[in-house]
Amino acid sequence: MSATTAEKARSLVAQMTQAEKCSLLSGASFWSTKAIPRLNLPSVMMCDGPHGLRKQEEGADHAGINDSIIATAFPTAPGIASSFDLKLAEEVGSLLGEECQAENVALILGPGANIKRSPLCGRNFEYYSEDPLLSGEMAAAHIRGVQSKGVGACLKHFAVNNQETRRMTVDAQVDERTLREIYLASFEHAVKGGRPWSVMGSYNKVNGVHSCENGWLLTDVLRKEWGFDGFAVTDWGACAVHPAGVAAGMDLAMPANGAWLDRELREAVETGRIPESAVDECAARMVDFVTKAVERRDASIQYDRAVHHHQARRIARETAVLLKNEDNVLPLHGDGVAFIGAFAEKPRYQGAGSSHINPSEVTSALDAVRSVDKVTYAQGYHAESDETCRTLLDEAVEVAKAAKTVVLFVGLPDRYESEGFDRTHLSLPANQDELIRSVAAVNPRTVVVLHNGAPIEMPWIGDVKAVLEMYLGGEAAGGAAVDLLYGAANPCGKLAETFPLKLEDTPCYYSFPGEHDIVRYSEGLFVGYRYYDTVRKDVLFPFGHGLSYTTFEYGEIQLDELDTGESPRINVSIDITNTGSVAGKEVVQLYVAPAVNADIGVVRPAHELKAFGKVALEPGETKTVRFELDSRAFAYWDTRSHGWAAPFNAYAIEVGASSRDIRRKVLTNVGGRKPLPPVSTEMTIRDAREIPGSEAVLQPIAQAFARMAPSDGGENIMEVFLRDMPLRAVRALMGDYAPEGMVEHMLSGLDALKSAAEE
Ligand code: BGC
Repeated sequence: MSATTAEKARSLVAQMTQAEKCSLLSGASFWSTKAIPRLNLPSVMMCDGPHGLRKQEEGADHAGINDSIIATAFPTAPGIASSFDLKLAEEVGSLLGEECQAENVALILGPGANIKRSPLCGRNFEYYSEDPLLSGEMAAAHIRGVQSKGVGACLKHFAVNNQETRRMTVDAQVDERTLREIYLASFEHAVKGGRPWSVMGSYNKVNGVHSCENGWLLTDVLRKEWGFDGFAVTDWGACAVHPAGVAAGMDLAMPANGAWLDRELREAVETGRIPESAVDECAARMVDFVTKAVERRDASIQYDRAVHHHQARRIARETAVLLKNEDNVLPLHGDGVAFIGAFAEKPRYQGAGSSHINPSEVTSALDAVRSVDKVTYAQGYHAESDETCRTLLDEAVEVAKAAKTVVLFVGLPDRYESEGFDRTHLSLPANQDELIRSVAAVNPRTVVVLHNGAPIEMPWIGDVKAVLEMYLGGEAAGGAAVDLLYGAANPCGKLAETFPLKLEDTPCYYSFPGEHDIVRYSEGLFVGYRYYDTVRKDVLFPFGHGLSYTTFEYGEIQLDELDTGESPRINVSIDITNTGSVAGKEVVQLYVAPAVNADIGVVRPAHELKAFGKVALEPGETKTVRFELDSRAFAYWDTRSHGWAAPFNAYAIEVGASSRDIRRKVLTNVGGRKPLPPVSTEMTIRDAREIPGSEAVLQPIAQAFARMAPSDGGENIMEVFLRDMPLRAVRALMGDYAPEGMVEHMLSGLDALKSAAEE
């Protein structure tokens, strides 16, 4: 809320009765807010996203069961993230915003900024990445796009909702640093960069407290630290104790809950269990939202379905990732191509659950290829079954034998990945794996096109020449696949997540999805490539990987160190040249790698993505890609000072084509002071020594020890024992050797030195 709108909203709330105020904090129906006609406050509608508008006119549900109006199904989040193209993500948002205005929808539920902790999460097709910067920046761009059309976006699911198993009851137990650097960071980037009208609280608990009743998350972090000024809404049915939610800063419990919920809230205020001011604040935020929605309503915005379908195809082309292309088998040149696989005829282009869209038109690859080439076709497998159908397989093998090149369309069916449950393995259905093997055995030029929402294992990877990852590419995915296969478009996506060789390699293999109602994030910071690259584990395809029909050369890194001190600012630039014969786009990634031997006392991943850019180049063309790094690029979350810290250290700035394909690297020394440890009797001598000037204050300890255990002149073993001893143990161990009050005296001395150093 801006200061003026906040004032307006508060003055309206001041005119409301207690009952009216309370009524605003829960839904009127499955999808709408309550109206207060007496004060001319209307009801407005919220609908699902995130990759299309799911507006239900009747038969409301949050599981994608009942029908919704016709709308465009755009490519899903994994593909959007693979584009590494913020303008594209923003464009998708603005197209969604147009459809919302055309349908009089005030707020679209999405994007999802949850981190892909495990490839098994059933809802990964709604999330962007395993990396918080990429995920958060993509979400921010999506939000900006939606909101540019005067429609609100709702960032979800806040927070730490990384699995579907027991999603409504599970307690995600995450340490403070991991929360800040990984799981919250994605939301932080999205909130700061996108300024969403709304944030949705998740079903799960975070460290023992329901997200929707978590004052620390909703008020301290989201509003006070990150400056969120919109309204918070529960996930549908996530409200456990309504008054507790309101007291924590949760503004709206959805969906409609009946009169009892409002009554419960009124009673809580009347009996003083929660302050009236909490209700007033939530009500003001709801008024502000509704007022904004009414003001920005633009009935003149209509859209043309055919145009949006065309945009969906163009966008899908930007989201595909060419994973393998041996002997440049792609692009196809026509002549003797066979398409095999049920997904060629009926692609899987979206996920199941609340994001399920009802498109007017779906283009299959078989439809699209008609205008380009004359291909033969065999179905190969039944998509709805795992069992091999001998007749279909034999027919496919015969078609494959007769073809010069085979394109196999395979992937995950709906029953494999959906909102509501997680996968338990990373395999394709057995009949599809068998088809791939059988076809590749008779045709050496076999290309695989994948329609899936998350990584799969590819036991046949060595048998096929090429793999094109289309993800769940929206209603025009089949057309986009044909454009890419035949070279009308050049693949330019890169993976926003690692494809492991096998499930057992994933960092949270032992702890996903947890035991009973507890999931411990025991792998800590080491999520995705942060794990694989730190422990140097082989992967199937690394984070950031993606091929093109052209090649790119990386020039030297230029560093412009504007400031290397307390608040570093470094400009990085690098020339990229298209050295091939067709136009293409390269995603350039910048990772920061703290020097291995850094003595800062904290564990850090081998390297982390800190910036990215995408550049379009004609053959022979060179362009400069520029990045700006600030202190956050070098920072870790310091659990002693509970803040970001970027202490002076040597860092490698790496620029590359994937996390495993670093093309250029330079070293730089940047950073400021290391945060000082808290002064207390729990503090060790080693920590106390970090405080500048502490030697003199600590001197009496050494003297007391010398009296207690006189040195024989050899190596002072006492020194080693002393280092990790807390001050309270010094007192306990030394007895009469330590003068009375010695430790207390030290504490006040250290306190003074620390304050002086921090000034
Ligand atoms: C999902 C949300 C969705 C809501 C409304 C919930 O089950 O988790 O993402 O926005 O339903 O359909």
